[in-house]
Amino acid sequence: MGITSDRVVGSAYGRGQPEPDNELTRVGPGTPMGELLRRAWQPVGLTPEPGSPPRAIRILGEDLVLYCDGAGRPGLVEPRCAHRGTTLYYGKVEDDGIRCCYHGWKFATADGRCIDAPMEPEATMANIRRTVVQPWYPCLDYHGLTFAWMGPPELRPPFPTWDVLEAPSENPDRPDAILADATGYGLGGGTVLGCNWLQVFENVMDPYHVFVLHSTFSVQQFSDAMAVLPTVEWANTDTGVLTYQDRTLDDGSTYRRITECFLPNARIVPNVGAGTPGEGYRSGGALGFVVPIDDTSTTMYSLLRCQTDDDGVAVFPPRATWNGRSWDELTEAEHQAMPGDHEAQVGQGPIAIHATEHLGHTDRGVQMVRRRLRQLLRALDAGEPLGGLASGLATVSSVAGNELHPPGRLPDPPGAF
Ligand code: FES
Ligand SMILES: [Fe+2]
Repeated sequence: MGITSDRVVGSAYGRGQPEPDNELTRVGPGTPMGELLRRAWQPVGLTPEPGSPPRAIRILGEDLVLYCDGAGRPGLVEPRCAHRGTTLYYGKVEDDGIRCCYHGWKFATADGRCIDAPMEPEATMANIRRTVVQPWYPCLDYHGLTFAWMGPPELRPPFPTWDVLEAPSENPDRPDAILADATGYGLGGGTVLGCNWLQVFENVMDPYHVFVLHSTFSVQQFSDAMAVLPTVEWANTDTGVLTYQDRTLDDGSTYRRITECFLPNARIVPNVGAGTPGEGYRSGGALGFVVPIDDTSTTMYSLLRCQTDDDGVAVFPPRATWNGRSWDELTEAEHQAMPGDHEAQVGQGPIAIHATEHLGHTDRGVQMVRRRLRQLLRALDAGEPLGGLASGLATVSSVAGNELHPPGRLPDPPGAF
């Protein structure tokens, strides 16, 4: 018998299912958040090898074709050929554009214009050159990732660089390397999470879950230093929200970890191997973009600032482990017994239903992210200047990192309170 009281409060019977927060979660063309995400340069994949076969991608609910022409310029186009609509996925990449397989029309990387239609007589070709454009998005390569501008063409800002990637190396004799990653580094397992982007993104402003999910619930998934219960604070910044977590280590020193998010969808998370030999405590090196594939699937593209070994080869930063094994080596029973970020976030459902949540003090960072996003949506709707990565800033500054401070006075915390 499992019933201990005749009084039943909050029975599951007839509970219904409220709608998701559509304003914050829907990303397709024409949706509020979809439009906000299109007001920042978005990474769409590793930049392909010049001249390699076209790649089918899906981002923000749009199917597109990514390629890199023979001159090394990335191109991103609507798949349906402007002639009669077969997909350019079967096209051929040439020095200055992409050529369709069906009738050979070629579209320029530089501006999408049709620059060749081999079966057409010159009389019609002149008109085709003047009028036919394959729908395309401007894009560029930055450290091995292709970034696209999917917003209104007339509002395209300069591409911002990131100080975390451009700052000189601490040791000039052994300069850091930057690795472009499309394996889902930082997602906690797998390259794609079958859930909405927001529950992935807001997770980085939820540092308390590190102590439960990653440290004490099952096995310790990060370093020893990361497993210490921290004191936690959050702060708004010009570009987003940050959290800092102070952990007092056995020798009385303080390990301060600062994690930062940049609205609408980028984050810098210092690596989770803090304090381990060879890793120590370093400024945040993992710039990740939480990229919606569509409303219910999400990936992450990262630029990882890495140390290099004696041969100058980049050392891939530590990932979470489960009893020394990686996420994809676990059986289903082990995933259930030792859940990580993947399980917890996909476990919130395809689109987390905010209306059924009960938020506490420890969710303050999540609330700040949602509030700031909503402020941006209001500004977008009103035609006002946007903040965060949608503000057109030239360089993005960051304070994220793992820091070790000897016993004594801590530096002032970062951010504006
Ligand atoms: S459908 Fe592409 S060239 Fe005809
Ligand atoms: Fe996590």
